[in-house]
Amino acid sequence: MAKVLVVGGGGREHAIVHALSKSNKVDEIYAAPGNAGIAKLAMCVNIKDTEVEKIVEFAKAEAIDLVVIGPEASLALGIVDELKKNNIKVFGPTKAAARIESSKNFAKDLMLKYNIPTAGYEVFEKYEEALNYVKKSSFPTVIKYDGLAAGKGVVIANNLNDADSALKDMLLDDKFGHGKVVIEDYLEGPEFSFMCFVNGENVYPLEMAQDHKRAYDNDMGPNTGGMGAYSPLPFITEEDYNYALNEIMIKTARALVNENCSFTGVLYGGLMKTKNGIKVIEFNARFGDPETEVVLPRLTSDIFDAFNDVVDGKNPTLTWSTDATIGIVLASKGYPGEYKKGFVIEGADSDDIYHMGTKIDEAGNLVTNGGRVLFAVANGKTLAEANKKALALVEKIKCENLFHRTDIGAKAFRK
Ligand code: AMP
Ligand code: GLY
Repeated sequence: MAKVLVVGGGGREHAIVHALSKSNKVDEIYAAPGNAGIAKLAMCVNIKDTEVEKIVEFAKAEAIDLVVIGPEASLALGIVDELKKNNIKVFGPTKAAARIESSKNFAKDLMLKYNIPTAGYEVFEKYEEALNYVKKSSFPTVIKYDGLAAGKGVVIANNLNDADSALKDMLLDDKFGHGKVVIEDYLEGPEFSFMCFVNGENVYPLEMAQDHKRAYDNDMGPNTGGMGAYSPLPFITEEDYNYALNEIMIKTARALVNENCSFTGVLYGGLMKTKNGIKVIEFNARFGDPETEVVLPRLTSDIFDAFNDVVDGKNPTLTWSTDATIGIVLASKGYPGEYKKGFVIEGADSDDIYHMGTKIDEAGNLVTNGGRVLFAVANGKTLAEANKKALALVEKIKCENLFHRTDIGAKAFRK
């Protein structure tokens, strides 16, 4: 029987822990740091996902058989390299391979070099040069900080003023740290998330999902970390799927091998179906959040076996339920802006509710502890049925400071 450590403490990690808990080969699951929901399935240890040394020490001391990394911050710090140095088995990419997410510049140059379809772009370090370039561009234009910025480093500028203030933030005021910007062409079309298990040139696709980034119904309001997701995707044809797999995901895995930074783990393609074909918006080097929370519940094969097989260079078995899943985020009022924490939550006991930002307070109550707080997932024979069930689950959750979208997946099932 195996001991597994999951690094991270959000909804994504709750879904990973939940999937691992169904394996009859796993008897002990640890999470660092975990959260109040994860604590029902795993032992939470008080180590942050960025405390690499402490995680390595813990894994050694507990003789952990497999470590699974959730967050990008841990990967960008080289947690996989450190664990490997200590002969600890880990599912996730090295620091060099994780640059596909941690550096937009690296990702864009790789796509250009290997002819992987993406928006046209230029890279700038100097504010004046970047400003001169946008003065000649058409709007909207897209300005991206070249580094991790917790989903806040992308600005769609509709005019020169907006572009100028984004460039000032990123290049003069170093709002996200000192760095470069990528300025790219604006693309239009539905976005979707294609996560694949990868080991070197071998690519094993997971079921696709779609995130909903805007805060309010009908895609209104500010961009967030994601307000809900669903799977599968009726708007993706077989031709789209084959193109995305062969011309994007497999090509990218091969390109990384060729660049001497072979990838192991989950490669996440953030793709857009434009009228000129499918193009890459971004890559992530990890499971998506909240996509993972709607994709893993559809997995009917053993995830622990799959993680091990991928790391060992064997073909994993991945089988899927034909059911549809829809998940709805319950977020703190004010999110993605300022919000208060510590509001008591009741009615969130179901196993189908993943915790994104919760904790148990001193009085023993479950309370809100983040911007995104809970994720209610339901399945159904159709997306419409899953939607009804997910909304019913949300209705059971009582908390005065939460809000949610009511139209997750609606474009796919409302004709
Ligand atoms: P990213 O962090 O690169 O995924 O960007 C965040 C969001 O900004 C994406 O999910 C898109 O909605 C939007 N976005 C990024 N790049 C582009 C682009 N070239 N054209 C249109 N929208 C974009
Ligand atoms: N759902 C988008 C992400 O995980 O980056």
